[in-house]
Amino acid sequence: MKTTAYINNKINKFNKTVYVPGDKSLSIRFVLMASQAIGKSIAYNILRSEDVISALKAIKKLGINYKINKNYCVIYGKGFDGFNYQNNTIINAGNSGTLARLLTGILINSKKKIIMKGDKSLEKRDMGRIISPMKMFGQNIISKKNKMPLIIKGTSFPRPINYTEKNGSAQVKSCILLASMKTFGTTKLKCIQSRDHTEKLFKHLNLSIKIKKDKKFDYISCKGKKNYNGFKYKIPGDISSSSFFIVLALLSKNSKLLIKNVNVSKSRTGIIDILKSMNANVILKNKRIYKGENIADIFVKSSNKLKSINCPIKMNSRSIDEFLLIFLVSAVAKGISKFKKIGELRNKETDRLRFANNFLNKIGIETKVTKNSLKIYGNPNLKLCKTYEIKNFDKDHRACMVSFIAALTLGGRWIIHDIDSINTSFPNFINLLKSLGAKIN
Ligand code: S3P
Repeated sequence: MKTTAYINNKINKFNKTVYVPGDKSLSIRFVLMASQAIGKSIAYNILRSEDVISALKAIKKLGINYKINKNYCVIYGKGFDGFNYQNNTIINAGNSGTLARLLTGILINSKKKIIMKGDKSLEKRDMGRIISPMKMFGQNIISKKNKMPLIIKGTSFPRPINYTEKNGSAQVKSCILLASMKTFGTTKLKCIQSRDHTEKLFKHLNLSIKIKKDKKFDYISCKGKKNYNGFKYKIPGDISSSSFFIVLALLSKNSKLLIKNVNVSKSRTGIIDILKSMNANVILKNKRIYKGENIADIFVKSSNKLKSINCPIKMNSRSIDEFLLIFLVSAVAKGISKFKKIGELRNKETDRLRFANNFLNKIGIETKVTKNSLKIYGNPNLKLCKTYEIKNFDKDHRACMVSFIAALTLGGRWIIHDIDSINTSFPNFINLLKSLGAKIN
């Protein structure tokens, strides 16, 4: 398979309607929750990317059958005690932090030892954030320096916990919720607000979950062990995948784009609010609610009057996967954009703060970076004419895709390596760009 792309031309103006593939967070949650249901669950429009395939292979190794074809995925769940596997079974979570962390929660009651591995990038990421709460539940986890591989053995008598989550991590929150679902008694969580798909699925499945909110925290209590039956789910498009196209349209001259059927949960739409306050023309149309999730079509028009942003900290978790794109827009906005308390970006598939800083400097944008913050000195007259080579980004799919958007909107000649990394979240990304007229070799 080809692993390098060459782009020598900006994209011409376009006026189109597109669909992006199913939401990755919801697809992985569907696979894991369906594996614990009693009976058959069906998902339509499930994302068929490497991360989701890793999730399906993981449940298969644990004794759960599934079928997947172009239109739907069926999983034959066997309830909370339904996993059936050999001692020392090896699970490979691939590139997916979501899979590794959420599955560890599900394995709270695993009877035999499991060795959970990941790819090079995942094995560099912090697992300490889930190891401490899981140990409080009574799970046995062994790891070196809080990194993968994890050696996991569950407990037959998990204890409910009280836990405060301070990073705004939906993966940590969901790991705890999935363990609490299989634990007698009430688990209580105080957490910085983050994407809430797990809570919404729990509500949809009638699990005992209660949520109170104040300005900063969610207070969640979950009473386990309530079984649930197989269920059906139509997975909406992914806002994180849509965002590449939102920014493409925004930064291309005289262009318009409608992206249909996207999950626009408030916990995910930080990028839309941020872009609007930078003067972007983004409108949500045809808003509706499906199983507690907000869905809409997103309409976006190009803009040449973008202004900088002093990004409120409360946006950080709501736009955690979109910062590389927001930084790109800041690069061509008028004024100095400021981002604070964004150190979590250093814990993603690659150190995204370091990547962004190097990337922006490479294209001639001045920045000031610290461990936890970034200032970007925008240049609305930025015109690129050199050759830019993008490599060494730990195969981070989002670092790779943002480079395509820069190449297609800023000019210059681009050589982008490791494009196979895109398959973790958005396998038809390049074809969709081509359908809008992009020339990519
Ligand atoms: C995700 C949560 C976020 C996000 C990731 C998907 C999820 O990670 O970056 O792409 O599906 O729960 P954190 O929980 O580490 O912030």
